Amino acid sequence: MIEIPNELLIKLSKADSVVVLTGAGISAESGVKTFRDPDGLWAQFDPMELASIDGFMSNPQRVWSWYQHRVEIIHNVNPNPGHYAIAEMEKLFNHFVLITQNVDRLHHRAGSTNPIELHGNIIENHCFNCKKPFFGETNLPEGQIPRCDECGGLIRPSVVWFGEMLPYDALMKAEDESANCDVFFSIGTSAEVYPAANLPFIAKRNGATVVEVNPNITQISSYVDYRISAPSGEALPLLVEKFKDFLSFSIK
Ligand code: APR
Repeated sequence: MIEIPNELLIKLSKADSVVVLTGAGISAESGVKTFRDPDGLWAQFDPMELASIDGFMSNPQRVWSWYQHRVEIIHNVNPNPGHYAIAEMEKLFNHFVLITQNVDRLHHRAGSTNPIELHGNIIENHCFNCKKPFFGETNLPEGQIPRCDECGGLIRPSVVWFGEMLPYDALMKAEDESANCDVFFSIGTSAEVYPAANLPFIAKRNGATVVEVNPNITQISSYVDYRISAPSGEALPLLVEKFKDFLSFSIK
């Protein structure tokens, strides 16, 4: 039985600004593997070989085909009730910002407007050499990799790899929104990867109520104000339903 604390509903009813940070766990119920769960991607693959600049430079074909495999998976899954609940939350607060570490664009498909993508996305591609966005054919025979039509450079996915800088504007906005919100949700993330993992601390230091939604304990579990220990696909629709009921009873 998932408990939504009444105290949290009261805080949400008084909140002007609400920020949500999501990680791979929000997409788990869509059938997308997380990274650090026992059956996650990093249990099967070496992130330094597949999600780093060195990995790409040492074997661009292997990295390119791995990402195309992940794109194929994403094209065959759908947003789950957790994604849709977050899209719904956007309508319930005066100021709502979604920040995601995910690159699968399932939040967009669920109707969230303009999520801040801290780690880029795997749907878009650009030239490794001149950075020009690439819109050409990506479905090539195994072992082949598209080339830039401007400079002939290798095409790469528009994700942030380990060791790369996050998009500056996205990170600045994420930090500013986290520092100025009333309630901060950390959903489906192990809170192990910085600078995204810093955001709940920025929120808390600036007086926000911090809520974690995760069936497992994480690096920030002992630090948050409320923990909803449940899968986000079940917890978030319930939270939205309980909050809407709370609002209907309070507004008269
Ligand atoms: N609902 C909510 N949380 C879930 C669910 C679920 N159904 N299933 C798993 N989780 C939780 C796990 O308990 C774990 O804490 O999701 C979290 C996933 O953690 P990670 O696999 O570490 O993913 P994430 O936190 O998004 O990783 C951050 O690391 O590898 C890089 O760039 C990659 O963006 C990624 C970053």
